[in-house]
Amino acid sequence: MSGHERLEGREKVTGAARYADDRHPPGCLYAFPVPATVARGAITAIDTSAALADHRVLAVLTHLDAPRLAKADDPTLAVLQSARVAHRGQYVALAVAETLEAAEAAAGEVRVTYTAEPHDVVLVEDHPGIYAPEQANGGYPADRMRGDLDAAWSAAEVRIDATYRTPPLHNHPMEPHAATAFWEDGRLTAYDSSQGTGEVRRTLAALFGLEPGQVLVVSEHVGGGFGCKGTPRPHVVLAAMAARALGRPVRLALPRAHLAAVVGHRAPTVQRVRLAARRDGRIEGLAQEILTRSSTLREFVEQAAVPARVMYRSPASRTTHRVVRQDVPTPSWMRAPGEATGMFALESAMDELAVACGIDPVELRLRNEPDAEPDSGRPFSSRHLAECLREGARRFGWERRGPTGRAEGRLLVGTGVAASTYPVLIGPAAAEVRAEADGTFLVRVNATDIGTGARTVLAVIAAEVLAVPVDRVRAEIGRSDLPRGGVAGGSSGTSSWGWAVHAAASGLARRLAEGGPVPVEGLSASADTQAYVKQGAEYSRHAFGAQFAEVQVDRDTGEVRLRRLLGVFAAGRILNPRTARSQFLGGMVMGASMALLEESTMDAEFGDHAERDLASYHVAVNADVPDVQAHWIEEEDQHVSPMGSKGIGEIGIVGTAAAVANAVYHATGVRVRDLPIGVRALVGRLEGL
Ligand code: MOS
Repeated sequence: MSGHERLEGREKVTGAARYADDRHPPGCLYAFPVPATVARGAITAIDTSAALADHRVLAVLTHLDAPRLAKADDPTLAVLQSARVAHRGQYVALAVAETLEAAEAAAGEVRVTYTAEPHDVVLVEDHPGIYAPEQANGGYPADRMRGDLDAAWSAAEVRIDATYRTPPLHNHPMEPHAATAFWEDGRLTAYDSSQGTGEVRRTLAALFGLEPGQVLVVSEHVGGGFGCKGTPRPHVVLAAMAARALGRPVRLALPRAHLAAVVGHRAPTVQRVRLAARRDGRIEGLAQEILTRSSTLREFVEQAAVPARVMYRSPASRTTHRVVRQDVPTPSWMRAPGEATGMFALESAMDELAVACGIDPVELRLRNEPDAEPDSGRPFSSRHLAECLREGARRFGWERRGPTGRAEGRLLVGTGVAASTYPVLIGPAAAEVRAEADGTFLVRVNATDIGTGARTVLAVIAAEVLAVPVDRVRAEIGRSDLPRGGVAGGSSGTSSWGWAVHAAASGLARRLAEGGPVPVEGLSASADTQAYVKQGAEYSRHAFGAQFAEVQVDRDTGEVRLRRLLGVFAAGRILNPRTARSQFLGGMVMGASMALLEESTMDAEFGDHAERDLASYHVAVNADVPDVQAHWIEEEDQHVSPMGSKGIGEIGIVGTAAAVANAVYHATGVRVRDLPIGVRALVGRLEGL
C-alpha cells in the first residue's frame, strides 16, 4: 500500500494518545447527567435530597440553580435553563461527585416530578404540521422547479413513481462524547471530543459571556464522529457549567445509552421519486420530494433532494423538502447528510427505470449524463462519473451479468450498481509552517483528526511543497489557540486546512530558497486563505463515484448477505493513498451497514429511540463486509484547491445502500424501498422463487 502511515499510529496503538476522557487534572470531579423521562411537559419539582445524602456527592445542578447561560444559537445547548421538556432523554439535572460511581448513583437518586403533556412522535405522511421550510440544510433552497414536469409526465413513454423510506440512524462513534473542563482566573479550558475546537470555543465563549481568547478547547485525538461531534454538544456545556459552579475541574463522559437522545441522529425520510422517460431511457422529467422531521427545538432539514439537482440531465425537474416538528430528539449531521439518504432513493429509482426500459443500469446512467449541472447550468469543474462507471464495471466483471440473478441452491445471487456524489466544500483556514534548527518542520493549524488521517495528510502536503521526506514534518493540530481552521466535516478538512498549509509551506520554501542557514530559533511563514477560498466557485464542484454490489439472499429465511462491494471514485488528486483508501472503505462499510443493518425505531409510547446500545443498534462488523474494494481515477481539477484534491470522507457512503438494494432486486425480483433490508423486509415476499 503506497502512502504514509498515520503519524500518531504508534501513540494510538501503545495507548499513549490522550483522548478527552484521559485528562485528569488534580482535584477533578465527575459529573453524570439525568435524562428526562417524559417526551413533552414541564418539571414541577426536583427532589435531590436522596442524591445528596452521599457525602461524596457535592451538588446536583438543576434548572433552578445552574449558572445562567446567554442565549444559544443552538437551543439544544441551553441545558438546565428551563423547566420545559422538549423530548425524552433531554437533560434535566447533573450530579457531581468525587467519584464516577458516586455521580452515577446520585443521578439515579434524583426524583423529578413532571406534568406530562401528550406527545407527538410518529412521523405520518399526512401530518397536519408538515410545512415548507425556506431552506434545506447547507443553505440550499428547499424547492426548485425547472421546466414543465406535468407535460413531461403526460408525454412520457415510461414512468416510475415510487416512495422510499429511510429510518432514523445514529452515528455511534467508537468514542462516546466526553469533556473535562476547568476554570483558572476567569479563563475556561475544555478537553473535548469534538470535530472542531474553534466552533466549541466560539460557542462556550458566547454561552458564558467570555471573549473567545479566554477559552481554550483541545481535541488532540478523537475516536470518530461521523457528524455527531461536528457541532458543540451538551456535555461540554454541562462540564464547563459544573466546573464554574463548584470551582474544580469536572469530567463528564456520556454513557452510550444517552447518545441516542442528546447528540443528534440522521433524520428519517419519506421520499417520492418520479422519473418520466423515453423508451430509450432518456429522462424528460425528474421529481424528488422529501418529507423529513425535526424536533421542536430547532429546524433541521435533511437536504435529501439536493443531489438530484446535480446528477442527471432532465429538461424538467422538481426537487422539494417538507418537514414536520415533533416531540423528538433533534436530528443532526451524519456522514453525507442529505446525499446518503437522497441517493438511496434516486439511485433505486434509476434502477427501476433501467428495468422498466430494459436497459443495462450502467448504460442508463451514461445516457443521462449532463453537459453542465442540471439545476444551475454551471459547468462542472470536473466530472468523471462515466469513467467511474466504466472502470467499476470492468473491475467488477459487470459484463458477465445476466438480466436476472442466479440460484445457488437456496441462495439467490444478484448484483447491483449505483452512482455517488458529494460536493466540494472548502472553508477558510490559517496555518503556520516552521523550519526548526534541527532540520525538521512543524505545521501548526487548528485541524482536527477524528481518525481520518488529517494530521498525516497535512504533513504530506507540507513535505511535498518543501521537497523533504514526510518523516521530517510534524503537525500540531486540535487546539483552538492554533491558527484557525474549520470543523472536520463536510469532507472539507484536507482541502481547507491543506490549502493554508500549502500556502504557508510555499512561503517558507521561498524564504529558505533565499539562502542562509536556519537560525536556532527557527524560521517560519504563515498564511490565511480567507481571500482565496471563493476561487472557482463559478463551477459546480463535486466528487463522483460508482458503487457495485453482489449479494446473496436466503430464499427460506430472507437473510441478505453482502458478498462483494466495489467502488470507483473520482475525487480529485488523492494526496495520501493509504489513509484515503481507508476513508473510502469506511464510507462503503457504513453504507453497507445502512443498507442491511442500521435502524433506530421511535417508541411511540415513550417517545424516544428504542436502540441505545450496540447490541440493539446493529452496525456492520467484519463478517458483514467480506470483500470491499475501493479504487479511484486520477483526476485533475484546477478549480478546487492548489492541491487539486476534493473531499473523500463522505462519498464512500453515498449510493452504497442503493447498490445493495438494486442487487437484492436482481437476485430476487423483490424491490425493497424501505431501509434497512433486514429479514423483515423480505420475509413472505420470496415464496415461489
Ligand atoms: Mo460530517 S456529517 O460532514 O461531520
